[in-house]
Amino acid sequence: MKKIIVIPGDGIGKEITDSAVAVLKKVDAKFKIGLEFEYRDAGGAAYDKFGEPLPAETLDACKKADAVLFGAVGGPKWDNIEVSKRPEKALFGIRKGLGLYGNLRPVKIYAPLIDGSPLKPNLVTGVDLLIVRELVGGIYFGERCESEIVDGVERAWDTEIYSVPEIERIVKLAFESAQKRRKKVTSVDKANVLASSRLWRRVVNEIAKNYPDVELNHLYVDNCAMQLAVNPAQFDVIVTSNMFGDILSDEAAVISGSIGLLPSASIGELTSFYEPIHGSAPDIAGKNIANPMGTIASAAMLLRYSLNEEKAAQAIEAAIDKTLEDGYRTPDLFKEGCKKISTTEATEIICERI
Ligand code: IPM
Ligand code: MG
Repeated sequence: MKKIIVIPGDGIGKEITDSAVAVLKKVDAKFKIGLEFEYRDAGGAAYDKFGEPLPAETLDACKKADAVLFGAVGGPKWDNIEVSKRPEKALFGIRKGLGLYGNLRPVKIYAPLIDGSPLKPNLVTGVDLLIVRELVGGIYFGERCESEIVDGVERAWDTEIYSVPEIERIVKLAFESAQKRRKKVTSVDKANVLASSRLWRRVVNEIAKNYPDVELNHLYVDNCAMQLAVNPAQFDVIVTSNMFGDILSDEAAVISGSIGLLPSASIGELTSFYEPIHGSAPDIAGKNIANPMGTIASAAMLLRYSLNEEKAAQAIEAAIDKTLEDGYRTPDLFKEGCKKISTTEATEIICERI
């Protein structure tokens, strides 16, 4: 049996993970994978029960599992609690605890939704890119100071540190991903200013020698942000640091016009972790209107990367495509002439197409 830990979290987390589990059960029945599911708490839900956003038992269970399926954490209810107990801390604890060094965020355009993009249709046609973001290093985890007084002036600081092995493993992941795609890697840095970026670029060039079949280019992050807006179809795999990847992945996501559809995988040393890229959307929680497709697509990535079940992964992806082609839309994507569906209806319709 393959054990999947499911962490619904907060807000719409329960509804969307329920959907993804229903779809996984459907593919399991068809492809005979042998999946078993266990539920754990994290985020605000865990804080309310245990006083901790990430109970040690949750992290332990994740370490022993074959994969983790995650909904979302956070909400206004926990906005005013102490920083160390905030729901988002659960995410950092899991990233660090599972050594989730590589965050894969694929962005593709679903043809029936092309008008939903803020960019002109001719610019987004054919966009199919993968952001490979380093997830456990850089400025997110470097030493910082919240406040100190120097010469009578208050200041604060953060540090960006990257070591050669940290860069090597994320860059290898990017090149290996590119080999399975269109064989192009764009490495993004700020090497005209930052020492950590100059090391990054040097390591990327070294690693690239082992992948002669993959084309490599380098872009400064400011230029990359611009290129994503003017010619996003030029990209195949983008590899970058934690902070730049955070920023560029939101930009790339929104050009698809459908942030509710996008999945992610965080590749770990032991267990890997799968979550939609949108948040917990507390304003629509419990109303059965959230779009579960990002979480369902994350479940497809789980099958692909953690369980090596490529056919089952493709069956899920094809069922999502077909549902959209057939004109079904959750309220976030609804337009005149389409058929409006709830979270649970979307789940049933996708299951029928598997
Ligand atoms: C993301 C999110 C997180 C991050 C936040 C919630 C801390 O924006 O996963 O991209 O910055 O990593
Ligand atoms: Mg982000």
